Amino acid sequence: MEPEFWLERWEKREIGFHQEDINRFLEQYWSTLKLAKDSTVFVPLCGKSKDMRWLAQQGHYVLGVEVSETAVREFFEEWEVKPTRENKGPFVSYSASNIEILVGDFFALTAEDVRQVTGVYDRASLVALPPDMRRDYVNLLGEILPAKAQTLLISFEYRVDARKGPPFSIDKAAVKSLFAEKCNINLLDSQPFDLRGVAATEHAFRLGSL
Ligand SMILES: C[S@@+](CC[C@H](N)C(=O)[O-])C[C@H]1O[C@@H](n2cnc3c(N)ncnc32)[C@H](O)[C@@H]1O
Repeated sequence: MEPEFWLERWEKREIGFHQEDINRFLEQYWSTLKLAKDSTVFVPLCGKSKDMRWLAQQGHYVLGVEVSETAVREFFEEWEVKPTRENKGPFVSYSASNIEILVGDFFALTAEDVRQVTGVYDRASLVALPPDMRRDYVNLLGEILPAKAQTLLISFEYRVDARKGPPFSIDKAAVKSLFAEKCNINLLDSQPFDLRGVAATEHAFRLGSL
C-alpha cells in the first residue's frame, strides 16, 4: 500500500492493528537474539507501538520509521515525554531518551540511517504491504542493514477467503519465499488469535542476518 493509504487510515482512526499490550512473542523471544543490552534496535513501520517502549526499557537504543506523523506524535504523547523534532534529510526525526522515530517513507532509508543497528523488531510490516512492495521491502532491508543484524519477525496468517487485505495473510511459506535465499529462518512459535472476528494464527520467526 502506498503511504497515502496509511496516512488516511491514521486520519480516519482505522488503526485496529495497534496493540495496547506488549506483544507476547516480543517478551517471550526477544532474549533469544542475544543482543547486547545497549545495542540499537530498528523497528520498521513502527506505528505508535508500545513495544518500542519495552525495547527501550531493556536498555536498547530504538530507531523506528513511520510514515504517519500523527502516529509518532501520539506515541510520545502517550509516553508522556516531550520529543525533540528536527529535520534529517528526507525525514523528520522525533527523539526523546533512547527512542528516535524517523517520520517518512521506509523506502527512502539508506545504509547510513541504520548503520548502528544490530537487531530488528518487525511486527506486522509484511501484512501491511502488497506482494510486490513486500519483496522490495525485504530487498531494501537486505541492502541497508549491517551484516549480522538479527531479526525477530512477527506476522500472521488467516484463511484468505475470510477477508481482503490489508492486513494481508502471510503464511509460513510466504516468509520462506521472501527470506530463504537471504538468511536462516527459525520458526519460534505459532499461536491462534482473533483477528477482529476472523480466526488467525500469529507466527514468530528469528531471522539470521539478511
Ligand atoms: C500494520 S501497521 C503496524 C504498525 C506497528 N508495527 C505495530 O505493530 O503496531 C503498519 C504501519 O506501517 C506504516 N507504513 C506503511 N507504509 C509505510 C512506509 N512506506 N514507510 C513508513 N511507514 C509505513 C503505517 O502507517 C502503519 O502505521
